[in-house]
Amino acid sequence: MSETNPQRVAIVTGASRGIGAEIAVSLAGQGRHVVLVARDEAKLESVSRRIADEHDGASSIHPCDVSRTEALEQAVEQVASEHGRLDILVNNAGISRDNLMLRMTDEEFDEVIAVNLRAVFVACRTALRPMMRGQWGRIINVGSVSGLVGNAGQANYAASKAGLIGLTRSLAKEMARKNITANVVAPGFIETDMTEVLPDAVKEAALQVTPLRRFGRGREIAAAVAYLASDDAGYTTGQVLTVDGGMTMV
Ligand code: NAI
Repeated sequence: MSETNPQRVAIVTGASRGIGAEIAVSLAGQGRHVVLVARDEAKLESVSRRIADEHDGASSIHPCDVSRTEALEQAVEQVASEHGRLDILVNNAGISRDNLMLRMTDEEFDEVIAVNLRAVFVACRTALRPMMRGQWGRIINVGSVSGLVGNAGQANYAASKAGLIGLTRSLAKEMARKNITANVVAPGFIETDMTEVLPDAVKEAALQVTPLRRFGRGREIAAAVAYLASDDAGYTTGQVLTVDGGMTMV
């Protein structure tokens, strides 16, 4: 993958742990300056130190709750103005509040939509101006196989991740002539804190429907994101790249 000069600037949300941390490390390994966004400052700092250790890479942190629209807009605008550019946006922050539809509360629904979908809309909208100024952009939104095929107990989460695909494809069409691509990476079952807490029976059921018979690793999602963020991915837009051990094959 080609490196560029001057250095491209990337924002990764939900970069304090799990898949987001791996994405940040991987983009730094490609020579990007990565801005790590999540709520927990101490955890962001530790990922930033890891980037310095592993890649001698440059990163900075920007603590922010992405469900707070104004704070998120300010974060994106501040990164663009501090660096004079914004090239790559990875919307990875996500939450689940699982419940069967019969029992799911309005709060459980709204909370998930606010983080997984509305925040993505807000971050993309704010990132477009600096990307248009730079005449180059890569937007990668982290979806889920739940958004493709649904999942019992995840009506809120699946709706948010399915919505992400419609949002991303609309954005890809609006921005194609501006040299800005927008794609979704849809992970299957990945070993992180989010899945760690699931009951063993759920994990076993997931394993049974995964042809590769293992769970994925954060860096395997990061590799897909790094490709879509690369200069060489310029002809790929509006796509869903599923990384799920063969679970869905749609
Ligand atoms: P995780 O729970 O380990 O990490 C989520 C990250 O998002 C953390 O950094 C957290 O601080 C951040 N975050 C959550 N709410 C936030 C908020 N309001 N403001 C700022 N940051 C916030 O989750 P994991 O597993 O790393 O997931 C990352 C993404 O991948 C999510 O979008 C998730 O839906 C998606 N995904 C994960 C799968 C898995 O099996 N782990 C499967 C499919 C999709």
